[in-house]
Amino acid sequence: MSQTLLLLPGDGIGPEVIEQTVRVAEKVAPDLNLEYGAVGGASYDEYGTPLTEDTLNRAKASSAVLMGAVGGPKWDGVERQHRPEAGLLGLRKGLDTYANLRPALCFSALADASALKRELVEGLDILIVRELVGGVYFGQPKGIEALPDGTRRGFDNAEYSTPEIHRITRVAFDIAKGRGNFGRKWGGVCSVEKSNVMDSGLLWKQEVQALYDAELKDMGVPLHHMLADACAMQLVREPKGFDVILADNLFGDILSDEASMLTGSIGMLPSASLSDAGKPGLYEPVHGSAPDIAGQGKANPSAAILSFEMALRWSLNRSDAADEITRAVGQALEKGARTGDIGGSLSTSQMGDAILAEL
Ligand code: IPM
Ligand code: MG
Repeated sequence: MSQTLLLLPGDGIGPEVIEQTVRVAEKVAPDLNLEYGAVGGASYDEYGTPLTEDTLNRAKASSAVLMGAVGGPKWDGVERQHRPEAGLLGLRKGLDTYANLRPALCFSALADASALKRELVEGLDILIVRELVGGVYFGQPKGIEALPDGTRRGFDNAEYSTPEIHRITRVAFDIAKGRGNFGRKWGGVCSVEKSNVMDSGLLWKQEVQALYDAELKDMGVPLHHMLADACAMQLVREPKGFDVILADNLFGDILSDEASMLTGSIGMLPSASLSDAGKPGLYEPVHGSAPDIAGQGKANPSAAILSFEMALRWSLNRSDAADEITRAVGQALEKGARTGDIGGSLSTSQMGDAILAEL
């Protein structure tokens, strides 16, 4: 049966980076059926909602979904449930992509682009496994209410249940086992939370440990626990001490931005959001819509191209084509291909050319 990749270019630099990714897809997987849909602000402008039922249904029916980016100042005044970000959250929730994999990999050609010293980041290869469809992002109740004295109260509910914690923990352990980096200081799985102040964090820590004791211990993958603030600190102090960092939705959001900058450029980093086996994954670059450079042909298409690479690997079962892309991107960098974010002056399409030339 033919495989379908649903492309959701979205807002800002999304369409530009997806355009280059399509060139790569047509080259390495010409039989792949490419479809397009709208999401985020682009969808709001056209249909009055950042995610239509039709788009969600088509996403569910596809083999994988590749998104560009959502959001931008244009929609700042729009009420929350219609903001571009709500489209992305709806897509994540609708596809139940609970496991967000965010690799932070330092291409050696780019080690000097990092804000940290070369020796701290050269060869860095860590992975953040972020729970993506629970926690404070989705907890109820939430809202902003007016108080009798004329002031207001804003509130969100941070919550996690045993099954939500267990399923993401299993993903982290499976992946850590495959990676095999147990000798690092916090190698294997390092689970982070704020168990010192949050009850949902205490439950997180207890349930990760309980599942480990009951079922995962025999895998031989070490388990560490760390407070999220300490993890933020260690990530800039000794990033290579980590391997797989397991985090909830909010801490995973923050720590993955931090980890991305260790590598020199957020413009290089892909991500995969996975559900249970056999269900479509959602792939997106870690960078946002970058409205400041949108439409100028300055964006680095590498993160989107590498997100497609992850789709080939995790959803489409085409690891040969995926390897081919990884190699091509590395080689283009070795030969000096650079967009502005990584210290060069190539345009988005020239960077695409440079990567295509290596395929
Ligand atoms: C991310 C982004 C999103 C998030 C926003 C755009 C809703 O920051 O994917 O990390 O907070 O999850
Ligand atoms: Mg984020």
